[in-house]
Amino acid sequence: MATSNTDKPVVIIIGAGLTGLLAAQGLKQNGFRAIVFEREEGIDARPREWTMLVHWAMPIFQRLVPKDILEDLKDAFCNPYLHFNAEMETLPCYNGVTGELLFSSPTPGARRVSRRRLRALLAHGVDIRWNMTLKSFSRTETGLKVEFEDGQTIDADYLLGADGTSSKVREIAVGAEKAQPQGSGFLFATGLNQYRDVEKNEAIAAKHPVAALMMGTSSVGGIGVLSVEEPGDKSTWSTFWVKIWRGEPVDLRGQEALEYIKTETAPLRDEFQSAIDWTPSDSYVGINEMKYWIPVPWENYGGRVTLAGDAAHPMLIYRGQGFQHSITDVDNYVNALVQLHAAAGGDVSREDVMGTYDNEVVKRGANAVEQSLCEAEKSLDIDTVKQMLMATRGHGK
Ligand SMILES: Cc1cc2nc3c(=O)[nH]c(=O)nc-3n(C[C@H](O)[C@H](O)[C@H](O)COP(=O)(O)OP(=O)(O)OC[C@H]3O[C@@H](n4cnc5c(N)ncnc54)[C@H](O)[C@@H]3O)c2cc1C
Ligand SMILES: *[C@@H]1O[C@H](CO)[C@@H](O)[C@H](O)[C@H]1NC(C)=O
Repeated sequence: MATSNTDKPVVIIIGAGLTGLLAAQGLKQNGFRAIVFEREEGIDARPREWTMLVHWAMPIFQRLVPKDILEDLKDAFCNPYLHFNAEMETLPCYNGVTGELLFSSPTPGARRVSRRRLRALLAHGVDIRWNMTLKSFSRTETGLKVEFEDGQTIDADYLLGADGTSSKVREIAVGAEKAQPQGSGFLFATGLNQYRDVEKNEAIAAKHPVAALMMGTSSVGGIGVLSVEEPGDKSTWSTFWVKIWRGEPVDLRGQEALEYIKTETAPLRDEFQSAIDWTPSDSYVGINEMKYWIPVPWENYGGRVTLAGDAAHPMLIYRGQGFQHSITDVDNYVNALVQLHAAAGGDVSREDVMGTYDNEVVKRGANAVEQSLCEAEKSLDIDTVKQMLMATRGHGK
């Protein structure tokens, strides 16, 4: 397969998740040729949807994407019609024992986005090759040869593993055994609902117009608004709920998942429980065990291969840090390549520049993964909830 006949450096990105697509945007803006390879068959092939708060890394995100995407960014907001002020930009946490407000975490400038809609937006103008699963890669005299499961090979100058929690790039660069993600023992469930009912949607939004949490018993809960079709007609809104508990690993979908949550996990209180009880039978419901991997240094093939996002530091979803670190990784990666190529054969070496990138990701990522594990441990008891970083330090870095 031919990539190009120009002399722009070619960066192959594995994975069309948010990390890979953001990297493609950032690289394109800086004159690199980025090609994304994704094992899914198309953008809507296996639509995995959840919401995430973009908070401390929002200014970095804004630097990485072109103007037209920035202008359309509100299309990815869960509720783009809100009047965002300090109150909208907080994340309240309710006491799971009493139902009272426990604390409110300020997240200035933050926006909650739909993963599906942000992904669609970031895919604009990106060269994505769907239905391509990475198999292996090796060094050549001038760069890298990358091989896919269907037998195709492609030459590249750089390879970025943005292939998520069970990264194949990581498996090759670290070794299968050391690269294994670990089960955390914490289960995560989500439901995506269209209640088609004004009162129910109002009850969810009354806890907070964006999203709210509940902690302090053996289940953690979250509820919020997923999307708004007609701002004035609340029956058109979609909402989500999440629930976290410690337990046996299960991987369930649909009614089976809902039944499991209702019978096998401790109930929440108030709207956090009602949101689950009201789940219509056609809703998406899923349960997974949350996995993590504490980063250790990887082989970087002469500064040509590295990792970013969940591939580098899969963590638990506490304090909404995963994507903030992905954005930071992408910014550092783009800057490293810009620095290397601006020097044009000068006095910087690929090994040094990319080695610096790698060391920083490993250190920052390991810290974030460990923090997410500590937060999870402390979230299931009201006495320890108060010691969580989320309570003492908020959602900052
Ligand atoms: C419910 C939930 C809530 C979250 N909330 C927040 C939040 O509030 N704030 C925050 O900052 N973060 C949050 N996160 C974390 C954030 O969503 C992730 O960190 C981020 O989406 C990671 O994206 P990624 O692109 O690195 O990985 P992924 O989204 O997993 O993408 C990896 C891609 O690589 C592809 N792939 C895998 N293997 C191969 C292969 N061999 N060949 C080709 N393609 C391959 C996969 O198909 C996939 O498309 C949340 C996560 C979840 C699940
Ligand atoms: C994806 O690739 C496989 C073989 O690699 C092929 O059988 C399948 O038809 C492809 N799917 C699409 C949608 O192109």
